[in-house]
Amino acid sequence: MAVVEVLRMGHPLLQQVATPVDPIPSRKLDQLVTDLWDTMQALDGAGLAAPQIGVSLRVVVFEVADNPRYPDAETVPPTVLVNPLIEPLGEAMEADWEACLSIPGMCGRVPRFRHIRYRGYSANGQPIDRKVSGFHARVVQHECDHLDGLLYPQRIPELRDFGFSEEIDAVGT
Ligand code: NI
Repeated sequence: MAVVEVLRMGHPLLQQVATPVDPIPSRKLDQLVTDLWDTMQALDGAGLAAPQIGVSLRVVVFEVADNPRYPDAETVPPTVLVNPLIEPLGEAMEADWEACLSIPGMCGRVPRFRHIRYRGYSANGQPIDRKVSGFHARVVQHECDHLDGLLYPQRIPELRDFGFSEEIDAVGT
């Protein structure tokens, strides 16, 4: 069990393009994945990317199951995704609120592709290939952005749609 520090927006490592993992599997990768899960679960996150814990490798984890931070969200199976590739399916976009463990206390309304296909590998090297929609697709796009040095505020078209979660919840969005 290792809950590690999550880097916050402004840290230069969060702006780097992360390096592909090679080889898969490895002991080092297993250790990284354990730290990602432990840290994400301790903070009630829906997902976490390796750069957020200071490791510039292309690894993300995500899971949504009765998450108190996302009470209305559909469930997303626990997934480790290594060297992911995302392909939009169609051009439909959908704007919705997102938060990030690297930007505590804030949220913003971000357009994302409604339908995507994503591919990659599990931590033990099994191929993953899924077509998903809605919140599942949103979580994957958010996490994979971290691997390209992008945080969600960079995707918000109107900066007025960015603010403190407590204030925005109070307005009842
Ligand atoms: Ni994030």
